[in-house]
Amino acid sequence: MRAVLVRQFGAPEVLTVAEAPDPEPGPDQVLVEVRLAGVGFGDTIVRSGRYPFPLPWIPGVEVAGRVVAVGAGVGAALLGRTVVATTAGQSGGYAERAVAPAAYTFPVPDGLDLAVALTVFQAGAVARGLLATMRLDPSDTVLITAAAGRIGSLLVQSAKAAGATVLGAASGAKLTAAAEFGADAVVDYTTGDWTERARALTGGRGVDLVLDSVGGAVAEAAFTLVADTGRIGLYGFASGRWPVVDLATLQLGQRGLTLTGPLGVVFRTSQARQRDDAEQALAAAAGSRLTPRIHATLPLNRADEAHRALADRRNIGAIVLSV
Ligand SMILES: NC(=O)c1ccc[n+]([C@@H]2O[C@H](COP(=O)([O-])OP(=O)(O)OC[C@H]3O[C@@H](n4cnc5c(N)ncnc54)[C@H](OP(=O)(O)O)[C@@H]3O)[C@@H](O)[C@H]2O)c1
Repeated sequence: MRAVLVRQFGAPEVLTVAEAPDPEPGPDQVLVEVRLAGVGFGDTIVRSGRYPFPLPWIPGVEVAGRVVAVGAGVGAALLGRTVVATTAGQSGGYAERAVAPAAYTFPVPDGLDLAVALTVFQAGAVARGLLATMRLDPSDTVLITAAAGRIGSLLVQSAKAAGATVLGAASGAKLTAAAEFGADAVVDYTTGDWTERARALTGGRGVDLVLDSVGGAVAEAAFTLVADTGRIGLYGFASGRWPVVDLATLQLGQRGLTLTGPLGVVFRTSQARQRDDAEQALAAAAGSRLTPRIHATLPLNRADEAHRALADRRNIGAIVLSV
C-alpha cells in the first residue's frame, strides 16, 4: 500500500510517500481502508524526533474510511461500515490502510460529513474529557489558549455549551475565528500586555480555570490570571516546552490553586467512558451542536505541507489528509 513512511526523524521533508506492507488486523482489531486521516500537533512533535517512535514510522492516529476486514473476536457488524477510528500501535493513519482496535472504532452517524466526523470523534472527546476532569462549572470563567486550534476550537464550543464564560486566547490573526467558535471575549497572547487586557476583560477578578496547550511563556503568564481557588489544566506544549512552575511564586498553597495534567487523567479513564465521550462528540456534531472547522484537506503526498502549516501556526481548526 501507499503510505507516508518516515525513515528518519526531522523536518517536514521526511514525510514522503512510499510502498509499505499492508497491515493485518490482529485479535480485537479492524482493518480500515482509509479515506481521510487526521493531522494532530502531536504528529509534528514525533516527526521532529523529540518523542521518537520505532522507525520506519507511519504517522497518524485518526482515520476515517471503510472497515474491510476484522480480526479474531470482532463481530461482523462493523464489516463494510464507514467509521472513524483511532489507529493501533505502529499502524499509522497516513496510509491507504490502517489497523484500529474495534473498541476505538465508531460508525459515522448517517448524514454526518466524513471530515467533520474525523475531526470531532477524538478531539471532541478529548475536549469533553478535559472539561470533565477540570470540573467545569457553568459559573466558571475559563481561559482557553490556542482557542482557534483543532482541539482548542472544540474546547471553546464545549465550554460554552456547558454554560461557562469563555476567554479565548490565540495569536492575532485567529481572534475572529476564536470569537466565531463562541468565545465571549478574545485576547492576543503575542502582544506584551496581554495579561493586563485579559484581566480587564474579567473585570479584574481573573479566571476560575485555565486550559493551556501552548506551554512556555504563554502558560507562565496565564498562571498570573488565575483567581484564588482556581484550577490550571496543562495538556500540551505547542510552543516547544512545558511551563516552569514555581509553586512559591504561584502561591499555590496559600491561594488554594489546583494544578492538573488533565489529558493524563482522560487517557486513564475507562474504555467505556472514552467511548462514550467519542460517541457524544459525534452525536453533537451530527446535531450541529459541535461544528469543527476544516482548515484544509490535502492529498497524502502533501503531508509535509500540512505539518508546515501546523508548525507555522497557520491552521484555524483541523487539517485533514485525503488518501
Ligand atoms: N499528550 C498527548 O497525547 C496529546 C494528545 C492530543 C493533543 N495534545 C496537545 O494538544 C494541543 C493541541 O493539539 P492540536 O492538534 O489541536 O493542535 P492545534 O491547537 O491546532 O495547533 C497548535 C496551536 O498551538 C499554538 N501555538 C503557540 N505557540 C506555538 C508554536 N511556537 N508553534 C506552533 N504552535 C504554537 C498555535 O495557535 P496560535 O497561533 O493561536 O498560538 C497553533 O495553532 C497540542 O499542544 C498537542 O500536542 C497532546
